Amino acid sequence: MAAHYQILGSTSAAISASVETGIRSGALAAGDALPPVRALATALAVSPATVARAYQELRQRGLVVTAGRHGTRVRPRPPVAPRRAAHAPAPAPGTRDVSHGQPDPRLLPPLGPHLAALADTVGPPVGYATTGVHPALAEAARSRLAADGVPADELTVTGGALDGIERLLATHLRPGDAVGLEDPGWANLLDLVAALGLRPVGFPVDDEGPVVSGVRDALALGVRALVVTSRAQNPTGAAVSAGRAGELRALLAGRPDLLLIEDDHAAELSRLPVHPLAGATPTWAFVRSVSKPYGPDLRLAVLAGDEVTVSRVAGRARVGAGWVSTVLQRLVLSLWHDPATTALVDRAADAYERRRRGLLAALADRGVAGHGRSGINVWLPVPDETATVTALRDAGWSVAPGGLSRLGSPPAVRITVSALDDADLVPLADAVAAAVRPAGPVRFTA
Ligand SMILES: Cc1ncc(COP(=O)(O)O)c(C=O)c1O
Repeated sequence: MAAHYQILGSTSAAISASVETGIRSGALAAGDALPPVRALATALAVSPATVARAYQELRQRGLVVTAGRHGTRVRPRPPVAPRRAAHAPAPAPGTRDVSHGQPDPRLLPPLGPHLAALADTVGPPVGYATTGVHPALAEAARSRLAADGVPADELTVTGGALDGIERLLATHLRPGDAVGLEDPGWANLLDLVAALGLRPVGFPVDDEGPVVSGVRDALALGVRALVVTSRAQNPTGAAVSAGRAGELRALLAGRPDLLLIEDDHAAELSRLPVHPLAGATPTWAFVRSVSKPYGPDLRLAVLAGDEVTVSRVAGRARVGAGWVSTVLQRLVLSLWHDPATTALVDRAADAYERRRRGLLAALADRGVAGHGRSGINVWLPVPDETATVTALRDAGWSVAPGGLSRLGSPPAVRITVSALDDADLVPLADAVAAAVRPAGPVRFTA
């Protein structure tokens, strides 16, 4: 959508500040188009170079993105908080929202009983006298990770997966460095990489994880870090298979200059085993969030890695936020140790599996091929993203345009299956089939 906000300024600094003000005030929303460079230069009576410099500065700070003929637009999540919540592109009124990419709140374990139990056992206030990682949580995390083949002698805790990834990138890379990302990949990570001033280099993924030749190409382009999603890749549902893990480990072995980050956000929700790459390179980190199985509001992930990497992440936290509250760490420990919670997480994993497979099967029956080997999303390559999103919206479904997740990969849309009921599958599959299939030949005779 083109924005009606009036950008002002006679210098590049004033123009970029004016755009930032527009984003902060909510007048410029995610996805809004900025005027073409020449048009804005004429309107402001400045040279095109001045506007181009302003746009470049905004791009380097991750506020806007320039994508060929689509021009320059506000990023989905610019690193400037709006004063009012005008940002998340709201689902069209009256439609079912299957665009959000979140777990079904009805399937998250209740925290109340654990908070109540914690109140009795939390002990005296700890003040600043904490080492950061609660020893019992560290021990439990170590044995859970070791059971999955992840060496976790060195381990710390972060405020979620993305916080861990941010600290990893910030402590190993410098603005301008290239980082290899899955394409298509997680939109929030693309926004973070832009906000850090890093250069994204996409590599393709198929159902079994990163495509080896694509990763090789990214390495040849000089990426300093790679981020790989172990399972439930967002948006495609890819999961790194045993065979692919072996090939990637062989490719990456002995690369001392590369930071290898694995994001295992699906964790206990995945029905597929993890095939870690951890330890294939001397510099590595494996991040496991509790957001998807236990709840995004817990804001906690455990991060294992080599000694230098873990020490940098923990040390950087120490000079900043400090640590993740031990109250939250105890809460997670209580959830991990509770058999009733484990049963609820299992039930959620089964439900997501049934909904995802159910939708893929209903689509296949209608001749539509989708992807979704694991997780809560189905990824549908389509000939025309905007036309598909619009047709589905008119049919009552809000789906996510793939553009938010893509660097250079072909058009697609993402459907989140987490909150679908069995009765939704047929109407949704019918609507998708009608939206992606070109209209049949027009009959001029009866
Ligand atoms: C690929 C991926 N990683 C991680 C997360 C969770 O991140 P966090 O732990 O910061 O909530 C998500 C949530 O959507 C995700 O899609």
